[in-house]
Amino acid sequence: MSSLFDFDAKPDAYAVMGNPISHSKSPLIHAAFARQTQQRLDYSAIQVDAGGFEQAVGNFRASGGKGLNITVPFKQEAWKFVDERSERAVQAGAVNTISFDDGCCIGDNTDGVGLVRDLIENHSVGLAGKRILILGAGGAVRGVLGPMLAQQPSKIVIANRTEEKALTLANEFNRRDQLRGCGFPAIDDQSFDLIINGTAASLRGDLPPVPATAISNNTCCYDMMYGKMPTVFMAWASKHGALKVLDGLGMLVEQAAESFFIWRGIRPDTREVIASVKAAL
Ligand code: ATR
Repeated sequence: MSSLFDFDAKPDAYAVMGNPISHSKSPLIHAAFARQTQQRLDYSAIQVDAGGFEQAVGNFRASGGKGLNITVPFKQEAWKFVDERSERAVQAGAVNTISFDDGCCIGDNTDGVGLVRDLIENHSVGLAGKRILILGAGGAVRGVLGPMLAQQPSKIVIANRTEEKALTLANEFNRRDQLRGCGFPAIDDQSFDLIINGTAASLRGDLPPVPATAISNNTCCYDMMYGKMPTVFMAWASKHGALKVLDGLGMLVEQAAESFFIWRGIRPDTREVIASVKAAL
């Protein structure tokens, strides 16, 4: 590991791989972490074409690269590719962080921990004993369920447009006391302490069909997406009187901070980085 003062050594190289990748905020975030913690490193963004993932990782590793973040659509492929997986990567079925260590390629997943830390540390939204509704049952939701369950909420309901996927995902975690899956109509008139939108609906400006009765004046609503403007889900939550309405920018920075910690052994202070990324949106 090179430090700020090894002027002759080549900086340790890291990168994020995905497709598309040009709009990735990860290089900006990791450069800010490196400055803040006085670590000397390079972090780049690498666009990888379909079918080219293994080759791209092999090339990066052969050139001396120390670690990778993996984003859409390669997280599952990365899971298959690595030699070893952390417990949270196993649970997530996806890898977003790779470390190359003594010839071994180790996969981890920091998305769930990023979400939980953003909620608890940055927004004072605790999960213990809470009734939680998660919208969506794709990879984004699978990735966060393990760390969320570890906080001991009283229940998590996964609601999805395709009900079968929610049922399958809930069953996989085998926590019938705490976790169940359903379609949107089955949400009925229950209200929740926390509603998390993990669907891809916000990307298209769509709103998942959640009854407004799911929101009480104590409900926190969180969209895993973020943008310059509030998402349609966030606008809906505000309109129906949610106590707090949050976007996923903090989760993005927190998952990056956990990757940085895995690689460098130092935990950056995320608050100023969240503020600067927000200002640059
Ligand atoms: P990701 O890996 O980002 O989670 P994904 O696996 O394609 O992506 O999952 C996308 C999720 O968003 C799914 O839960 C999907 O619902 P279906 O399983 O029924 O397809 C959900 N989704 C996408 N567009 C949606 C919309 N317009 N309304 C409600 N749910 C939507």
